[in-house]
Amino acid sequence: MAKRLQGKVVIITGAARGIGRGIALKFAGEGAKVGIFDLNEIDCLAVVNEIVMNGGESIALGGDVTKQQDVEDAVASLALRFGAVNVAVNNAAIMPSGKLHETPPDDFEACIAVNLRGAYLVNCAVLPGMISARSGCILHMSSITGILGLPGLAVYSATKGALISLTRAMSTDYAPFGIRVNAIAPGTIDSPMLHSFIEMQTDRENIRRQFDQMHPIGRVGTIAEVANVAAFLASDEASFVTGSVYEVDGGLSSKGEQPQN
Ligand SMILES: NC(=O)c1ccc[n+]([C@@H]2O[C@H](COP(=O)([O-])OP(=O)(O)OC[C@H]3O[C@@H](n4cnc5c(N)ncnc54)[C@H](O)[C@@H]3O)[C@@H](O)[C@H]2O)c1
Repeated sequence: MAKRLQGKVVIITGAARGIGRGIALKFAGEGAKVGIFDLNEIDCLAVVNEIVMNGGESIALGGDVTKQQDVEDAVASLALRFGAVNVAVNNAAIMPSGKLHETPPDDFEACIAVNLRGAYLVNCAVLPGMISARSGCILHMSSITGILGLPGLAVYSATKGALISLTRAMSTDYAPFGIRVNAIAPGTIDSPMLHSFIEMQTDRENIRRQFDQMHPIGRVGTIAEVANVAAFLASDEASFVTGSVYEVDGGLSSKGEQPQN
């Protein structure tokens, strides 16, 4: 049976660890040729090795998504190695915490630069090729914080909401060119980002329990559960899906307030 992403050339940002790494492994297993783009070049190589050891095809693309030259070089290297890029997964992000007035200007600028400018630069680098090919797929890794007002994550949430608006706007602009643009909005996912957040808290067990209980399914999600949705959206099975936001959140965004006794 043909694999779902057979032969597709994919760039994934922030793919050296966590959800991006999970998407890279899943896509490679589905037959994609995967460019692993991340600041952390050593971990990029580790992911590439893992893919190649499992019979897949991949290259490491060390770089910073906020730097136009890095992004353009990465897309050019990927195209030189495997051919024109068919799919871009904008996954790299940073998450400064705090209420808005507690967020220093440097953290604000850095969060916008990685989470939003990074997606802008990657999209600008891949779109001309996709427009010529009259086909392509762009995924934005948003978050449930882009939909719900969760406390203490103002600037991060603003970037994740912006990615949802960008998804919708781009889907109408690029549908005539056969390019689909979708977003994924995960709830809390069992990932290094979650582990480091919990590590900074004093009452770690209790915080972890609260994360689990917050989701109607009764637990946080797994990286594989996000990667499965990404693989569907990147595949031709999703050929009529564009401008959509897939909430991978165990029902969190559908939950109303519980009535008080
Ligand atoms: N973990 C969660 O619970 C959760 C929930 C909702 C949404 N998300 C989103 O999923 C995505 C991945 O999250 P994660 O938990 O795997 O995060 P993570 O922190 O584990 O991984 C992020 C990766 O991005 C890379 N990165 C950061 N800045 C970069 C830059 N300037 N250039 C290139 N690479 C850069 C990091 O090196 C890292 O490898 C993010 O967009 C995040 O907002 C995560």
